[in-house]
Amino acid sequence: MCLINIKELNVTYRVGYKTIFVLKDINLDVKSGEYVCIIGNNGAGKSTLIKAILGLEPIFRGEIKINCSKNDISYLPQNNGISLDFPATVEELVLSGTQSTSNKFKIPFYNKKNKIQAGIAMDKAGIKSLAKRRFGELSGGQQQRALFARAIVKCPKILILDEPCTGLDHDTAENFYELLSCVNSSDKTTIIMISHDLSAVKKFASKVVILNGELKFCGSVAEWEKYNFCACGGNL
Ligand SMILES: Nc1ncnc2c1ncn2[C@@H]1O[C@H](COP(=O)(O)OP(=O)(O)OP(=O)(O)O)[C@@H](O)[C@H]1O
Ligand SMILES: [Mg+2]
Repeated sequence: MCLINIKELNVTYRVGYKTIFVLKDINLDVKSGEYVCIIGNNGAGKSTLIKAILGLEPIFRGEIKINCSKNDISYLPQNNGISLDFPATVEELVLSGTQSTSNKFKIPFYNKKNKIQAGIAMDKAGIKSLAKRRFGELSGGQQQRALFARAIVKCPKILILDEPCTGLDHDTAENFYELLSCVNSSDKTTIIMISHDLSAVKKFASKVVILNGELKFCGSVAEWEKYNFCACGGNL
């Protein structure tokens, strides 16, 4: 089943009087259960594409069809923007993910089911022992796991992550990718991840997308390796 269908997508930014095309004529399908990795240089438009999918950036031309509810999509942005003196505990942070996005301005109310969901998500993320710790006092890797637990607490159909392992050491990042892979294979969560970590992309992706303002490549890891080989004129 096709969960996301992008057709002839163009996204622009206004810089002064100029209109700059950041994404040009992008066509892309994301199917249920896929693990899509988006790669490309800094400024290639990767985060912009994700934001357009999420409805956070307006579309200049083209269309994006999403075949599930907004509540079925979770997003881990490039910079979490949470300050280090954020007072909530890990459990409270994860619980907040159980609230519907339309509930934003209401006082949150957590029932027993929500607390069970939060327990399961923290368990999956391996941070149950950190439940009562303040988010701001955790290490970068622990914070990322707490945010991940929050993102999966409602068992989303689609999980979108923008460079989730930036700043994490190799082993912590590797563990995080394993966690993602587990959620993808056992919960059938569709994953869309932006990454500069090409070895992780090679290991985990079922579909690789290369962006450079335009869509340069889209295919399996095997096809990507062939594409790289051809791009180097066979001199790898
Ligand atoms: N709000 C904005 N206003 C104007 N230009 C923007 C805005 N957001 C992004 N851009 C520009 O659009 C281009 C693509 O930005 P984007 O953040 O999508 O890149 P990226 O591929 O995610 O890069 P990185 O790997 O560094 O995160 C960049 O040239 C950036 O300067
Ligand atoms: Mg980015």
